[in-house]
Amino acid sequence: MKLIVTSDLHIEKDNDRSCHQLPSILSRYIQSNPSEDYVFAIVGDVSPNNKKLEHYFRLFASVSIPKLFVPGNHDIWSQKRNDDPSTKNVDSLELYQTVLPSICENTGFHYLDKKPFVVNRIGFIGNIGWYDYSFHSSSEPMVSNKLTFIRRDTNQEFSWSEISYSDLTSKELWTMDVHQVPTRISVWNDLYYIKWPLHMDDIHFCNTCYETINQHFLDTFDHIDHLVFMSHHALFEKCIVRYPSYQDEFNNAFRGCKFLGDYIISHPKLRKVIFGHTHEAGIYPLGGDIEAINPYYTPEIPFRVISLPY
Ligand SMILES: [Fe+2]
Repeated sequence: MKLIVTSDLHIEKDNDRSCHQLPSILSRYIQSNPSEDYVFAIVGDVSPNNKKLEHYFRLFASVSIPKLFVPGNHDIWSQKRNDDPSTKNVDSLELYQTVLPSICENTGFHYLDKKPFVVNRIGFIGNIGWYDYSFHSSSEPMVSNKLTFIRRDTNQEFSWSEISYSDLTSKELWTMDVHQVPTRISVWNDLYYIKWPLHMDDIHFCNTCYETINQHFLDTFDHIDHLVFMSHHALFEKCIVRYPSYQDEFNNAFRGCKFLGDYIISHPKLRKVIFGHTHEAGIYPLGGDIEAINPYYTPEIPFRVISLPY
């Protein structure tokens, strides 16, 4: 069996035209070896515009293999759009739990966050994953120009090692420039577009992801010999690429959630991990025979083909 997988298409950006060729490229690939069993998966960040995402998924109608979808953070960005008045009251949780599953049902995609997919005793379990700031490093990145930072509400100065939990939840990092003007070094745009309902925050959402994954593990355990786990976010330290930059290192807080990875790696039938979000294509050994694969979409390499179960 072959898993054909891609991620982070971001069809609202320059990729638009090349992404629209993906269904025909995929069809040609499948037809080149029709005796093989295939599963196709997208592991998140297609578009924050649901209408665009639905239209895009319909382009895969003639691709007659199982098509799986795990959403990314951009897919649950809550944005009011003037062309669609119904968008104004839809928060990120409703997009995740209701709107996206409905789009998948209408377009022939299997929404893994709702239900695992099992074929030939291979289980495909998927979840958006999220971030709990656990990949934030208190070690200052090795930059040549060291800075101190400020809290915007008080202008209080602090060093990298003093970054607090509330600094991370603010999703912004500011400094004072040489003219004593506040300057923003980094912002994680989920700050503006992830709108949780009142009872929810990033940590709480990670916990709901854990509960769902746990249930899906229990539901499938006796029906599978091999597990392929897919998430949008990166759930393993070995999947985090660190650069000597304040911006990149600050943004690592929003890459993923370590405790979910610790749980997933404990599954005795785990064979492969697929993830996206970091835009760092590659194969990341997790120990034993298990590899994590980031199949980041590019026009040159639109998908990766992975042999299963090993
Ligand atoms: Fe993402």
